[in-house]
Amino acid sequence: MNQAKGLQTVVKNQALSRRNAGSTPAGTVLPRVIAVTSGKGGVGKTNIVANAAVALSRMGKRVVIIDADVGLANIDIIFNLRPEFNIRHVISSEKTLKEVMVQSVHGVKILPGGSGFADLTQLGEGEKLNLLTEFETLSDQADIIFVDTGAGISSNVLYFNSACDECVVIATNEPTSITDAYAMMKVMSREYGTRYFKLIVNMVDSAADGKKVYASLSGALDKFLKNVVLAYVGYIPYDRQLQQAVQKRGLVMDYFPDSASAQAINEIAVILGKRPLKNSTNGNLTFFMSKVFQTTT
Ligand SMILES: Nc1ncnc2c1ncn2[C@@H]1O[C@H](COP(=O)(O)OP(=O)(O)O)[C@@H](O)[C@H]1O
Ligand SMILES: [Mg+2]
Repeated sequence: MNQAKGLQTVVKNQALSRRNAGSTPAGTVLPRVIAVTSGKGGVGKTNIVANAAVALSRMGKRVVIIDADVGLANIDIIFNLRPEFNIRHVISSEKTLKEVMVQSVHGVKILPGGSGFADLTQLGEGEKLNLLTEFETLSDQADIIFVDTGAGISSNVLYFNSACDECVVIATNEPTSITDAYAMMKVMSREYGTRYFKLIVNMVDSAADGKKVYASLSGALDKFLKNVVLAYVGYIPYDRQLQQAVQKRGLVMDYFPDSASAQAINEIAVILGKRPLKNSTNGNLTFFMSKVFQTTT
């Protein structure tokens, strides 16, 4: 048995013994793991994840955010939190997930990302098991887990995207953002066989502009990547009030709940909150982690 297979067997056995021990009762609806990603940086991923998480939590969902943007982790900044520990301490097993996770005033649980540590794809077997064991504890504590994966086609970003159950791509109407979003989907489909993506268009002036971006991306996919399906979730208008909220280390949802962007993100959260029909078997952490192992071998 090769190392990867051995690890996957351990993963399976761990999940089974937990289930048998009753900590994840059969029939429990396991969390959906949603990656939020982009080709180009600075397109609004962190703001969308944070505000949508708050909106969903107000709708009664239990939401966890994993800040996996290891280079530019900043979820904690817009929640105005100053966490002492981060994902790095969980990987090294210095701390448990429970000790590292912080909770926002809205009730959203956040696993802060650490910046400047080793590429997650380079983790050793023991470190991966530490992460797995800790992530498993989220199984019965969350309905939705957002993973803010960072931008681009670096190995870390692909690593998280390929492991998540749903992949939401954020783009603006800048040609560079559209081209990079396409490149990201191309690499994900070629290298990891990812077929389903969702699109949110951010910082546009009108619904028509959002649709244009969707049309150009889905047109390119139809032509060159026929087996990839892109669903349109919606658009968020360019909104100075969102920027003002960021200046205050806060969320537009809190500071300007009636603003155009807060309303748009609310509508998007309603759509994201609906469990997709095809999702009945994939949305669980054991699946998440075993895919992580597969993608790194
Ligand atoms: N809808 C929007 N309208 C205006 N500015 C926005 C909007 N969304 C994001 N921004 C601006 O873009 C910046 C980067 O957003 P951020 O969420 O940090 O992007 P990413 O996580 O993709 O790097 C924000 O600080 C804000 O100034
Ligand atoms: Mg970010």
